Amino acid sequence: MKKYLKNIMAGTMVFAMAAALAGCGSNEPAPAEDGGEKVEDAGTLIMATNAEFPPYEFHEGGEIVGIDAEVAAAIAEKLGMGFQIEDMAFDSIIPAVTSGKASFGMAGMTVTEERLQNVDFSDSYATGVQVVIVKEGSAIATVDDLFAEGANNLVGVQTGTTGDIYATGDIEDEGLGTIERFNKGADAVLALTQDKIDCVIIDNEPAKEFVAANEGLVILDTAYAEEDYAICFAKDSELTEQVNGALKELIADGTVQSIIDKYINAE
Ligand code: ARG
Repeated sequence: MKKYLKNIMAGTMVFAMAAALAGCGSNEPAPAEDGGEKVEDAGTLIMATNAEFPPYEFHEGGEIVGIDAEVAAAIAEKLGMGFQIEDMAFDSIIPAVTSGKASFGMAGMTVTEERLQNVDFSDSYATGVQVVIVKEGSAIATVDDLFAEGANNLVGVQTGTTGDIYATGDIEDEGLGTIERFNKGADAVLALTQDKIDCVIIDNEPAKEFVAANEGLVILDTAYAEEDYAICFAKDSELTEQVNGALKELIADGTVQSIIDKYINAE
């Protein structure tokens, strides 16, 4: 069995644990700070993200928009706090959160066992699927072709993503190909259109957008892995319960779904 199955199970367990934990303790958000405390503690939520991941976060008209940006803004509003987005490389998000430079990380980020060693996660607010993009007529016809004996593909991923982690473990470490790491998913897709690599492993929603924007690309029917997206926090941060409480309310009252529908079901 492929390694990613472990990750799916870990994600599910975390989800159950987070749900159980959220049941105890008060969900009452603290009032917005008006006195002498540090701004990042009480007044303004700083979200670390990598805005190269449509429809979750991307640049539009000089602004960062998308599902995560809107859900996070709604959380801040509910908590009576200010809101600010810091755009950075995907693999800088967890360090920004653990060092306290950001209040939380939200970036279509998958809950994994490895990440849980460094951060805590909120409840999951969306699911993702790792898919494989190829050129039309590619010799790679199913995900299993990537793991076939004698396979030797150049596989593009965004650095530090679960696509990178799975492909490194399942393909590179098994001697079945080489991983090419890119700063942006779009750069990996560009390399694919230029025949510099054989496929790209990336989350399904950005994959759909990249394929729509480039001729001659297809997404394989078979999925590589299924995942839960959640917000990450510094371990034992006081914010986790507050933000998660607001997130739960926004899930329960349909706000999160309507934001998702606005970006995903619009076509
Ligand atoms: N879901 C994948 C992960 O957690 C990819 C997320 C990439 N997000 C981004 N904003 N670039 O690793």
